[in-house]
Amino acid sequence: MTAYRFCRSDDIGLLVEAYVRCRGPEDEGEPVLDREGFKRLIRDLDLWCSSCMVASEGREPVGVLLGAKRPEATLVYALRVHPAHRRRGHGRHLLTSLSQKLAILGPPNLVAEVPAGRAAAEATFAACGWQRSVSLTDWNRGAPVTGSATNEAREALEPVWVEDLASAGLLTACCWHRDAAALLKQSERLSGLAFHSPDRIEAWALWDAEGTLWALGATPGPFGRPGLSVVLDEIGTPLHLEKAAPGEVDAELLTALGFVRGAEHLLFTSQAQAA
Ligand SMILES: CC(C)(COP(=O)(O)OP(=O)(O)OC[C@H]1O[C@@H](n2cnc3c(N)ncnc32)[C@H](O)[C@@H]1OP(=O)(O)O)[C@@H](O)C(=O)NCCC(=O)NCCS
Repeated sequence: MTAYRFCRSDDIGLLVEAYVRCRGPEDEGEPVLDREGFKRLIRDLDLWCSSCMVASEGREPVGVLLGAKRPEATLVYALRVHPAHRRRGHGRHLLTSLSQKLAILGPPNLVAEVPAGRAAAEATFAACGWQRSVSLTDWNRGAPVTGSATNEAREALEPVWVEDLASAGLLTACCWHRDAAALLKQSERLSGLAFHSPDRIEAWALWDAEGTLWALGATPGPFGRPGLSVVLDEIGTPLHLEKAAPGEVDAELLTALGFVRGAEHLLFTSQAQAA
């Protein structure tokens, strides 16, 4: 007999245990989640225990859904069923229960960013009526050869903050962990640099001490592309951009700037459905 239940804020221990116990072969190499990591997900990604669910048989957790919630949408951050308990309907039950809850309480929009190549996960979201949307791509760039930008070009560089880019409408990422709401939370740990023309910001980047890019972009005009090259060269370290959507930064531009494609993720979307 399987019991399914939504969680409360004092269920963090249970959720962590369920998430760790339900690891499968596809999670090899993934760092193990602990309580501190779970609390970081609450802080950074708006994970809510009340949007998380555990499936249990007796005292043993056999499935778990971790959900994050913002005013406009809910993210299925993770859906895991223990390998010995798969194909028994737990994944479907967890997704359907969340959808039914959100049909009453909102928000109605659901999203999930599923690592590409997970056939079971793709089939599960599709079987539950979710639509496959765009691919989100990771990009990596080695350290640039320094000193290629002229002094004149470098004079167009100025520090920039998350708030500046937000008010200029330049934060266009659609992945959950880098959308405008998420970036505003990260603002204190991010560095930013923008390339300016007399009229406006032409190219920009926000990054952290580990070389992870949190925002990156160039205007379509003549200064955007060369400006972004100057910005990236000035940062100077190897860089990593996670889950870039096709409309966020042009893939051809990233390739021209020395970025190489990494992992792919599939964006799935759905609307909350009443029982
Ligand atoms: C994805 C996952 C949670 C599915 O859980 P599950 O309990 O096995 O799924 P269900 O039994 O509810 O399957 C629901 C439907 O999805 C489809 N489906 C699920 N697994 C499938 C598979 N391996 N092959 C083909 N179809 C599959 C089927 O249509 C199935 O309905 P059916 O059994 O009546 O034919 C599980 O495979 C898992 O934990 N995978 C690893 C973690 C992961 O990749 N998570 C997604 C990233 S967020």
